Amino acid sequence: MNEEVVRVERRERIAVVTLTREARANALSRELVLALGRVGRELKADDTLCAVVLTGSGQKAFCAGADLKERQGMSAESVRGQLQLYESELHWLRRSPVPTVAAINGVALGGGLELALLCDLRVAAEHAVLGLPETGLGIIPGSGGTQLLPRLIGEARAKELILRGSRVSAPEALALGLVNRVSGPTTHVLDDTLEWLRPIADGAPIAQRAALRAVRAALEMPLDAGLEHERALYEQCLQSEDREEALRAFAEKRPPRFTGR
Ligand code: COA
Repeated sequence: MNEEVVRVERRERIAVVTLTREARANALSRELVLALGRVGRELKADDTLCAVVLTGSGQKAFCAGADLKERQGMSAESVRGQLQLYESELHWLRRSPVPTVAAINGVALGGGLELALLCDLRVAAEHAVLGLPETGLGIIPGSGGTQLLPRLIGEARAKELILRGSRVSAPEALALGLVNRVSGPTTHVLDDTLEWLRPIADGAPIAQRAALRAVRAALEMPLDAGLEHERALYEQCLQSEDREEALRAFAEKRPPRFTGR
């Protein structure tokens, strides 16, 4: 019988995706990577969602990266195949039409931190530890870490973390801009993340999606092309009923009731 490796639950308009290989520190086995790919394809088709939260089961690990036990017997060719699988099965996290958010409930190492880097936003539990130890294992990050980390925290700091293989605490990660927020000691990181996402859940869906696409494009496009892209996305909002509703609500001094049209 197959063990469950991923669980998906709905919390109103947010999908919570939990890695459930707790006994293996939620390490990325081939089975887990394939399961995450299936989840990504299902969620992409769900236009009622406003966000996706990715977390790990237990208090110890968000994800300890590649499954090193599985990796042990792999040929170079199989490892190449695994890297391709990361791209095809995990990179939906950075292309999702709604924001993806890592709720980092414990250690996020190697491919585990890369999983969090693929997300749009990151919230860490106070006890979380983050790092890219790959060079110490004779390899380099293989799921986008060398490209995503410098974009997020700058080249010099990314070099420091990757070349030294250093592990940073949640408060250090916050100071680096590696995580957006650290949850307080009395709240569970998942509950805290869901509460923190309330402005997105209450927001205008068309504007939320357009803003996400516009900001993502900022680091990929030359400025003039990015500004043109912004104008095209603004146009989508301009034609929405939600924009009119927001103006009416302002005039009537009440909160807007967005419908996603
Ligand atoms: N792959 C496969 N199994 C892993 C794993 C990984 N990446 N990380 C942890 N595990 C397993 C351990 O082998 C252990 O199982 P066992 O009891 O059957 O041996 C179990 O998960 C719990 O890990 P353990 O080391 O006992 O717990 P810990 O709390 O002391 O430490 C970690 C947890 C994640 C900090 C530590 O296991 C670790 O550093 N793992 C390697 C992480 C890494 O370098 N990842 C980068 C890969 S590129």
